[in-house]
Amino acid sequence: MIQFDYRNMLYSPQLKRALSPQQIEDMQGAIQEAHQEIEAQRKADILGFYALPEQDTGHIDSFIRQIDPRFDTMLILGIGGSALGNKALYSALRTERKLPRRVLVYDNVDPVFLHEILAEINLETTLFNVITKSGTTAETMAGYMILTDIIKQRFPDDYTRRIIITTDREKGFLRQVIQKEGYHSFIVPDNVGGRFSVLTDVGLLSSAFAGMDIAQLLKGAAAMRERAENSDIWANPAYLNGVMHFLYMRQGKNISVMMPYSNSLYDIADWYRQLWAESLGKRKDTRNRDIYVGQTPVKALGSTDQHSQVQLYAEGPFDKVFTFLKVQSFNHDYTIPNLHPDREEVSYLGGKKLSELLNAEALATAVALTNAGRPNASITFPTLDEYHVGEFVMMYEIQTVFTGMLLHIDPLDQPGVEAGKIATYALMGKKGYEEELERIKSLL
Ligand code: PA5
Repeated sequence: MIQFDYRNMLYSPQLKRALSPQQIEDMQGAIQEAHQEIEAQRKADILGFYALPEQDTGHIDSFIRQIDPRFDTMLILGIGGSALGNKALYSALRTERKLPRRVLVYDNVDPVFLHEILAEINLETTLFNVITKSGTTAETMAGYMILTDIIKQRFPDDYTRRIIITTDREKGFLRQVIQKEGYHSFIVPDNVGGRFSVLTDVGLLSSAFAGMDIAQLLKGAAAMRERAENSDIWANPAYLNGVMHFLYMRQGKNISVMMPYSNSLYDIADWYRQLWAESLGKRKDTRNRDIYVGQTPVKALGSTDQHSQVQLYAEGPFDKVFTFLKVQSFNHDYTIPNLHPDREEVSYLGGKKLSELLNAEALATAVALTNAGRPNASITFPTLDEYHVGEFVMMYEIQTVFTGMLLHIDPLDQPGVEAGKIATYALMGKKGYEEELERIKSLL
């Protein structure tokens, strides 16, 4: 079970401005209200991610069993919620779980990035998975059209077996494309928003392809959901972390730094960045009043960023709250040889494991930030495996919607990204956006 250590989030002689346990207790009414809102939305089938641990994944298992064993790479074309979860899961587990197949993600429209990916993959042994819930996202559609064209030209007789489309069950023009072309297809459920969709076909297919045990991912998620149903706030990591972040936001700590002490978990911090930013950064509350809330998520890497960011974290403005991610036991480790036993500058390192040094640095940073009066929490993964990653994903999805309820905003929408999408359509000449184009031109 992942361990959530919140001691440094609470008041102590070092953390004079930190929350007191009483302040958390005083939130019981609001916590109950937020919980009831979550329950109501679950009943109304709005928060579909809660039910994902029980889903039937037989279609994924049978697809993986029947694919040509020569396919060794899956290239995902998607963006935002249709990409970040795939990256997060694969990066977290590819080395520690010795995954036999590779997952790559093309999630930008940078031509150099595409060139590099095309140089890296073998078209012959790559499966292409276009993931888009709406089927209208310009970035994903551009990549889909370029790559489908390349694949069709190269494999005119069997291109269909190389392309997968993951999209809405019924809506969107890609469903018609699937029917016409006969591509393999998977589903983004209607009741699960993009950034909450990593435990649907969106993230499970690539994970199963890579060689992960997706049943364990879901088992971990189910276990965390159970912990998150505990009415004792102190034993409910998702609600507790949510309420603490909410209270720190009210104190003006508008930055939340997630700092994994593990390269494997760096992409999970990226997944968190989207979840936290897009879900909580809102202008309007649920009564349509302007409130302009949110907390800017930042990712940093331990120990690397100790030599880049920690100076600011320890001595800069009191506007941040920190979460360290740690791994207790690594499958791959190295002992530092005692090359210079007679030199005190380095001999203390001799004979120690690299993981010991890494975790000592994580603890040292937590101690230093605590002494500097900066609240910080730690989440420890006993090992990097599917079960613990599943727990983490469910914890943060629940924490995010719960915090959204405390803020009285809708954590599932993203009205602020619409304006940019509309301007892109106009600039790229999409039909129906002529007026918007004129408006933009008048500003240039
Ligand atoms: O969380 C979200 O809803 C967004 O980040 C979407 O995932 C992103 O915009 C991609 O959308 P789509 O899957 O429709 O292409």
